[in-house]
Amino acid sequence: MLSPPSPRRACVIALGLVAIGSLVAAGPCDIYYSGGTPCVAAHSTTRSLYNAYAGALYQVKRGSDGKTQDIGPLSAGGVADAAAQDSFCASTTCLITTIYDQSGRGNHLRQAPPGGFKGPESNGYDNLASATGAPVTLNGKKAYGVFMSPGTGYSNNAANGIATGDAAEGMYAVLDGTHYNGACCFDYGNAEVSSRDTGNGHMEAIYFGDCTAWGSGSGSGPWIMVDLENGLFSGFSAGKNTGDLSISYRFVTAAVKGRPNQWAIRGANAASGSLSTYYSGVRPSGGYNPMSKEGAIILGIGGDNSNGAQGTFYEGAMTAGYPSDATENAVQADIVAAQYTTTSLTSGPTLPIGSAISLRATTACCTTRYLTHNSSNTIVIEVVSSSSSSTLKGQATWVVRAGLGNSGCVSFESKDVPGSYVRHYNFALVLAANDGSKQFREDATFCPQAGLSGQGSVVRSWNYPTRFLRHYNNIGYVASEGGVHVFDAAGTYNDDVSWVVGPGFV
Ligand SMILES: *[C@@H]1O[C@H](CO)[C@@H](O)[C@H](O)[C@H]1NC(C)=O
Repeated sequence: MLSPPSPRRACVIALGLVAIGSLVAAGPCDIYYSGGTPCVAAHSTTRSLYNAYAGALYQVKRGSDGKTQDIGPLSAGGVADAAAQDSFCASTTCLITTIYDQSGRGNHLRQAPPGGFKGPESNGYDNLASATGAPVTLNGKKAYGVFMSPGTGYSNNAANGIATGDAAEGMYAVLDGTHYNGACCFDYGNAEVSSRDTGNGHMEAIYFGDCTAWGSGSGSGPWIMVDLENGLFSGFSAGKNTGDLSISYRFVTAAVKGRPNQWAIRGANAASGSLSTYYSGVRPSGGYNPMSKEGAIILGIGGDNSNGAQGTFYEGAMTAGYPSDATENAVQADIVAAQYTTTSLTSGPTLPIGSAISLRATTACCTTRYLTHNSSNTIVIEVVSSSSSSTLKGQATWVVRAGLGNSGCVSFESKDVPGSYVRHYNFALVLAANDGSKQFREDATFCPQAGLSGQGSVVRSWNYPTRFLRHYNNIGYVASEGGVHVFDAAGTYNDDVSWVVGPGFV
């Protein structure tokens, strides 16, 4: 990989550019530096956070041969080179293995190890995120965020320069305001070096989601809160603080900062407008004043490796010192100027909404078999032909609907059991009636994309984008390539996840 410029050099260059007359925008970490609170960690898969940073942003690993590649910005200070990822990951799967620290301190984020809680990998590590689950554009240029399903987590337990004890720090993150859940804990920030709960005040991290086990804000969430360990705080006191507003922005800026007996939560629409302050005041009692910060960094998990949460991270940084509101406001302006926008979640042939389709298996064993539900609501592959019974034809025909959990993708409604859809449950596919819950809608949402093996299309799970619709022993799953379950077996993976989309049988 290219070595990053030293942060000081990067900032001096950027400050020089600003001084010339603000013709060249400074990055978020240039702004923090000029505010006297330099970044000590800077993470983004979408863009450089320093105007002069031209080094690696993140590393991907592909399924076909296990090789890795660093992805950098298109130019110094620029948007990530998504085309380099697309070409490296063409016709295979790709995971994000490393999110590099741009600050020069080497505070890279990698697969989180087991802690108080174990990850789903056989060695107890958390899963890595798909490299393709969160496509966006910045100023019209495509980039990928880090789409984290439950069980996914990154950390650095030997970070350098992150606040410890009661020392002051700040942090911000740009997140997907529509991708969250109520499990613990989608965090970014300062945590325990042991991945274990070592007591109140041993963390100070941005939390995003609608967990109500500790604190909450007004409305039904999601909220930006602060994970201080053994508590998600939305304000001065434990529990509900109505000053912490529910977030309804697609792209959200979350900012948190703390210093002796003072902390704040601020938030904004990352695509327009300015930061609002949801709380600014003294520390809660009960072990949080003074703080006992440990200085590790987590992403997508709690400090004890609680890994039930989901969320999407685009960029974020942590600072030394307590940033002023003015500095954070300038960072927010820079984020708005980056123009985060959604883009297509699908690729390959489009599946017209309302059309009736069939999905034929392509693995050599099974090319006369189609995705079918049986009469006990298991999704299987069955031999179906024009001479099959009308019952079987109905069971093998799917009506394409706008994705119940994300309208950028699709859901598959049963032709013969209207109101029932293909969903995954414990990663097995079942036919189930839409109960209207957020969990159902998300589990029933799939994003078609161009095939992995060249034949047909693949169908990605929206909420587990490392997982594709697969047949294994004639039963349907959402499977990852080489994951921990039997049905994740690498063997004929590419063929098993590739389907020929044809007309429905009825
Ligand atoms: C449906 O398929 C599952 C998995 O093969 C099987 O266990 C179950 O018995 C099948 N149900 C019927 C009614 O055939």
